[in-house]
Amino acid sequence: MDNWRDVNGIMQIYPRSYQDSSASNDGVGDLRGIISRLGYLKGEKDSLGIDAIWLSPIFTSPMHDFGYDVSDYKEIDPLFGTMQDFDDLLREAHARDIRVMLDFVPNHTSSEHQWFIEACKSRTNPYRDYYIFRDARPDGSPPNNWLSVFGGSAWQWHEQTKQYYLHSFLSQQPDLNWQNTAVQQAMADVLRFWFGKGVDGIRADAIRWMGKNIDLLDDPINSAFTAGQDPYHAVEHRYSRFSPELNGYLKIMTDVAREHDDKILIFEDHLDSLSPVESQIRRINSIDPEVAGAFNFEAMHRQFSARSFSEMINRYQAYLPAQARAFYCFSNHDESRLASRFGEKQARMLAVLQLTLPGTPVLYYGQEIGMRDGVISPEEVQDPFEKRVPNKGLGRDPARTPMQWSDEPMAGFTKLNRSWLPVNSDYVANNVRLQQHSNNSLLSLHKTLFNLRKQHHVLLHGEFKHLQTTSDIFMFERKGEERFIVVCNFSEQTAHVLLPHNLDCEAHVVAAAHNAAMVGEKVRDSVTLEALEALVLAC
Ligand code: GLC
Repeated sequence: MDNWRDVNGIMQIYPRSYQDSSASNDGVGDLRGIISRLGYLKGEKDSLGIDAIWLSPIFTSPMHDFGYDVSDYKEIDPLFGTMQDFDDLLREAHARDIRVMLDFVPNHTSSEHQWFIEACKSRTNPYRDYYIFRDARPDGSPPNNWLSVFGGSAWQWHEQTKQYYLHSFLSQQPDLNWQNTAVQQAMADVLRFWFGKGVDGIRADAIRWMGKNIDLLDDPINSAFTAGQDPYHAVEHRYSRFSPELNGYLKIMTDVAREHDDKILIFEDHLDSLSPVESQIRRINSIDPEVAGAFNFEAMHRQFSARSFSEMINRYQAYLPAQARAFYCFSNHDESRLASRFGEKQARMLAVLQLTLPGTPVLYYGQEIGMRDGVISPEEVQDPFEKRVPNKGLGRDPARTPMQWSDEPMAGFTKLNRSWLPVNSDYVANNVRLQQHSNNSLLSLHKTLFNLRKQHHVLLHGEFKHLQTTSDIFMFERKGEERFIVVCNFSEQTAHVLLPHNLDCEAHVVAAAHNAAMVGEKVRDSVTLEALEALVLAC
């Protein structure tokens, strides 16, 4: 195995929706299902050729937030299989040279976790201080105005012990108290357990909430808030997140990773006005940039334009210190799918862009075939976010529908005639098998691009140099021992692009977002790109 720096990309798998194994056949994906699909990812003739997978949580959970509410961090939920299944998955993935990352949830446990059950027994229970319990205000209201991401106050009254407890997400997800060194040690111990088993990396969930103001000050009212917006934004989250202690808590995690060779941690750390890109990068840099990274999610909230993407990438690359890595993520289990957000052609163009940027790109299952958001009827809603804050387009079920493997019934996801979320109706026209048979499919394009990254490490580690941005075109160069130029046409018109004078080489096309026939074509001074085309040129 190479080391993490040479990994060509990470595929996020949402285990519930990847593959239901015939053994369980319950309409919910599981670990044996994932094992049966490893060949699709790497090691066979038709494989995608991706080097790493990240599994959304597979630990024991009452599933109020589909595994992001963990009741035992060291056990596998029976819905997904057994520890033996996990060990088999790890072994088989490693045999194919696929790294395995797990999703660690440090900010909160499930309310069914043994620690919380103990904490609720009395105010003097030794586990009470694992969580954040506080008295009511004199009028009986919650200790402060902090809000839950999933709607309403972030405080839940606990009648038996007559105090409130803090939950930044669901009331079934009580926040851990990271100021308590016993919590720090217990969570470090969880990481040690999984790294010890041979897990290669960790995605750390919702880290922004781990550090909060110790005096629990009220968050300021957001004066720009308007009705109709996500009610969570009614306040500015100045005190409920990102306290200065956060860095120390994250360092506890990276120190555990350091006890082993070649492990990584990627933090789920969204940017906002209180935490702009500069502070995210400063945070990573002050912790341990060789081991830790943060996802760059900006593309999920950007307008589709050359200037917008160019600005975002130039700024990020300029701030990134040499030893740090970028993890550009254009899609995940919390956001609308790329092909639905921007369009099918746009998604192809962004595939070329994402897979020629520096660092380690992170894809979401189905992104490689352009899966679209599913249509979920009111009776089919599963996501607690949609149930609690309905009809605002915040629900995440549409992005979590079963993987579309083939045109068999249920898209080949399950042998049962139903699944936990419905299979998208477009699966007959869009599925893996179909795309495997076409040289010009989005899947083939991803194979080409992952293969390029594998063959030419300059695409991973080489210098990123901006060449040109206009209202239509974003062009940049990747250089080191080799040299590649990437030209993206964000417009719906054909564009003629002059290559830089100092190019000083005859280039040829090695990948094209749309017109595969251009591959091999020689280019000297200028190049013509059809609408929404993106080309990779090798010098
Ligand atoms: C993260 C996860 C999301 C989950 C939340 C609470 O944002 O990505 O799916 O609901 O944390 O754990």
